[in-house]
Amino acid sequence: MRIKDFKLEQFFTKHEFTAPYLLCCSDCGSFSVGELLELDENSEEELKGLSLGYTETQGNPLLRKEISNLYENIDPDDVIVLLGAEEGIFIFMNVFLYKGDHIIVQYPAYQSLFEVAISIGCEVTKWEMIEQNNWELDIDFLKNSIKNNTKAIVINCPNNPTGYLISKEKFNMIIDIAKKHDFYIFSDEVYRFLEYDDKDRLPAMCDIYNKGISLGDMSKTFALPGLRIGWIATKDKSLIKKVISFKHYTSICNSAPSEFFSILVLKNKEYVIKRNLNLIENNLKLLDKFLNDYNHLFAWVKPQAGVIGFPRIKFNEDIEKFYTDLLNKKGVLLMPSTNFNFGGKHFRIGFGRKNMPEALEKLEKYIQEYYL
Ligand SMILES: Cc1ncc(COP(=O)(O)O)c(C=O)c1O
Repeated sequence: MRIKDFKLEQFFTKHEFTAPYLLCCSDCGSFSVGELLELDENSEEELKGLSLGYTETQGNPLLRKEISNLYENIDPDDVIVLLGAEEGIFIFMNVFLYKGDHIIVQYPAYQSLFEVAISIGCEVTKWEMIEQNNWELDIDFLKNSIKNNTKAIVINCPNNPTGYLISKEKFNMIIDIAKKHDFYIFSDEVYRFLEYDDKDRLPAMCDIYNKGISLGDMSKTFALPGLRIGWIATKDKSLIKKVISFKHYTSICNSAPSEFFSILVLKNKEYVIKRNLNLIENNLKLLDKFLNDYNHLFAWVKPQAGVIGFPRIKFNEDIEKFYTDLLNKKGVLLMPSTNFNFGGKHFRIGFGRKNMPEALEKLEKYIQEYYL
């Protein structure tokens, strides 16, 4: 293999379709086709007439228009639609980075955000969030990590796995540093619009920095990972061109039904986002209470956005053993931090699914039976 195994995705391959209770997913439970068609009375007829030919490589212009509406200063031509955010990460790194380049990546992270760069032969500095400081990023660390060959910073806020959301002040500091040293910022924003307080929402990177790239998708905020639709938005036209050229070797174009449903959902985005935020609000209340009730067993920084958090076990147990035993005894799946190469004490917990309260009850029973 030219690239290391993707630990988190391998973990899901093993467990996602067999574990009875998924308590670690990073999306809100999805919609059925029927539910989506109810969003617009004409949609069923339109779907019946949809051609299943090849589609435009850059993405359906109507979809690019809807995506551009998520931003302030982005035109449909500044967007390329891709096969999930994952294709966006893979192609961006392949067209932008060369062997010997250096990047600085917020950490812990979704593995492809650094692994693809490593596979190309890049030098990667992990910019670790500090748990004791509510997962804050240390700007001095960033400043001190810059080298002559630094080409980009990769950030992900709201963050997977911690739920951390950087402040606007610090966000602007990062941009100032990038401007000063003239490097790019690749900003994974797949959880944007899932801030619990609107006021905390960061500007999109592509809107405010001409060397900024915003990565978005239909999987997280819009709860439709099965569509496999993501995108890159940037003012850098030459980068868009390079991504299009590379895409001819990966997916060629997007699935027409997936583009159809993405347009439908983005036209109704307020409804979908509200549905997801309501689900999150109710579930997070329960989770926060649970983790506080058992705070002698768990440490926890409550997230500020998104559907996941990264608690730590305080008891003397290996996280792999903990998750395996819980899965075997109660059928509840947590994601061990070993999948993020981040020690042996944390686990990712997801609270975006409808059956989350039931899964949490099972976890609580397990804790009561084996740890009290
Ligand atoms: C931070 C982050 N970026 C990208 C992705 C990939 O998402 P997609 O389903 O759009 O490929 C994920 C999926 O979990 C993620 O958490």
